[in-house]
Amino acid sequence: MPHAGATATDTVAGLVPAAGSGERLGRGPKAFVDLAGTPMLVWAVAALAARVDALAVGVAEVDLERTRALLAPWAARVDLRLVVGGASRQATVQRLLASVESDVVVVHDAARPFLDASTLEAVIAAAREHGACSVGQPLADSLVRAHDGAPVDRAQLRAVQTPQAFRREVLQRAHEAAVRDGWAATDDAGLVWRMGHRVAWVDGGGHLFKVTTPGDFALAEAVVASGAFGVTAPAAPGS
Ligand code: CTP
Ligand code: MG
Repeated sequence: MPHAGATATDTVAGLVPAAGSGERLGRGPKAFVDLAGTPMLVWAVAALAARVDALAVGVAEVDLERTRALLAPWAARVDLRLVVGGASRQATVQRLLASVESDVVVVHDAARPFLDASTLEAVIAAAREHGACSVGQPLADSLVRAHDGAPVDRAQLRAVQTPQAFRREVLQRAHEAAVRDGWAATDDAGLVWRMGHRVAWVDGGGHLFKVTTPGDFALAEAVVASGAFGVTAPAAPGS
């Protein structure tokens, strides 16, 4: 059943949490780490800017000016808001959400550089219909329970990734409930689920992995160098 009020003319805002400190990678905030000569934040922003009407990016206060300079080419194309991030990813997203007025929001981590147009479209379309949608990756390894080694049916499981899209009021209610009830989650679909709202799932691919450790970064460089997943480096708008 289509979500009440969902139409093809809904406005869409991209929310990019990019305010982490990148401790596990060890190169400062990951958003500004160059991947094949382009900061990871720009990879994520370029993919979103091609689709959304507005874009809100959350960074640490000390990084506001360099972010403004870095994203200037995209500010001419989409309504760009820079927001000072919070102490957790959840707090950053809450602030990003408060900065936009669109009907639909799509949250995507700055640390996931390889967002493709068809995945983005699929999560937005499902969020319009169901109110909430996340990508999740089917798992390749066999799985067991850690405490007793009992096998778990991997076909029933997904590894949670971004992008995740929501009708804005749905995510707003979830974040309000989280603040009220003291819930913490590492992703937004988790908060929406917790308030009892259904989340639709779209299969994500291996290209949506998060760059977390030096090994992940080496993998990201190899993806660019090899053109795996059809990945090409982003070009500035108009260039
Ligand atoms: N993030 C954020 N605000 C925070 C913490 C994280 O916006 N206070 C963002 C990161 O910038 C990243 C995404 O959330 O795009 C996923 O977080 P993670 O991979 O954990 O990044 P970091 O927190 O930067 O890395 P680490 O945990 O290793 O320090
Ligand atoms: Mg973190």
